Amino acid sequence: MTDDTSRTTHFGFTDIPESEKAGKVQGVFGSVASKYDVMNDAMSFGIHRIWKDAMMDWLAPRPGQKLLDVAGGTGDISFRFLKRAGSGHATVLDLTEPMLVAGRQRAEADAMSGSLDWVVGDAMALPFPDNSFDVYTISFGIRNVTRPQEALNEAFRVLKPGGRLMVLEFNQIPNDMMQKVYDLYSFNIIPRMGQVIAKDSDSYQYLVESIRKFPDQETFLGMVRAAGFEQAKYRNLSMGIACLHSGWKI
Ligand SMILES: C[S@@+](CC[C@H](N)C(=O)[O-])C[C@H]1O[C@@H](n2cnc3c(N)ncnc32)[C@H](O)[C@@H]1O
Repeated sequence: MTDDTSRTTHFGFTDIPESEKAGKVQGVFGSVASKYDVMNDAMSFGIHRIWKDAMMDWLAPRPGQKLLDVAGGTGDISFRFLKRAGSGHATVLDLTEPMLVAGRQRAEADAMSGSLDWVVGDAMALPFPDNSFDVYTISFGIRNVTRPQEALNEAFRVLKPGGRLMVLEFNQIPNDMMQKVYDLYSFNIIPRMGQVIAKDSDSYQYLVESIRKFPDQETFLGMVRAAGFEQAKYRNLSMGIACLHSGWKI
């Protein structure tokens, strides 16, 4: 029998007690926060912007909607959402305060300050009542959460009936050849880039390992459905390097 204190999870390729994961994840993002946006552009050649725009295209934000952007980091998704919606409100929630601090220093945060909240919190225990938001997003965040199914259950709880979930994440590349090329790049180049730009190769080693440990698209689709979401679907981006999952609380 496994009780709560003896359960383990993965931190990249290392198995650790579940109770240690959140602290280690905070360590990673606390360390890279001030260079996070620059590193995102460098390691994806700017392509993360195209994936985030694709998320907005599918989401089609509408005026007046209330967004909860979990693991929202430096605000990329919330800024895009508010620009597209024209009016509305976004709450950026993240476990790591330095990520939110870096987000608040961005020019967009200043321009949109009346429509934005920044909240420190955990995706697995959201500090909001049931049925509070029209839209829930989590972009490149859920693979860092200790128990992703609990985060999805929480998403379902805080969404209003009729609300929409959208997850952007690296799942698994369906093509073996592409996967090999991607592994060569991600395991050999990204940690080195992390060392040069953020002076921290270990954090970027964790990030690339965590991608390999995340469930494939179909398995994750099952988890979205298990949380209660209907019309659950996914779309691969850039041949499956990244993927969008969508679901509705009906
Ligand atoms: C790769 S960043 C993504 C930031 C942003 N969403 C983006 O797409 O650029 C992952 C973020 O997830 C946050 N995070 C990890 N575990 C979390 C949890 N359990 N609850 C809330 N945020 C979490 C980290 O602190 C970090 O800011």
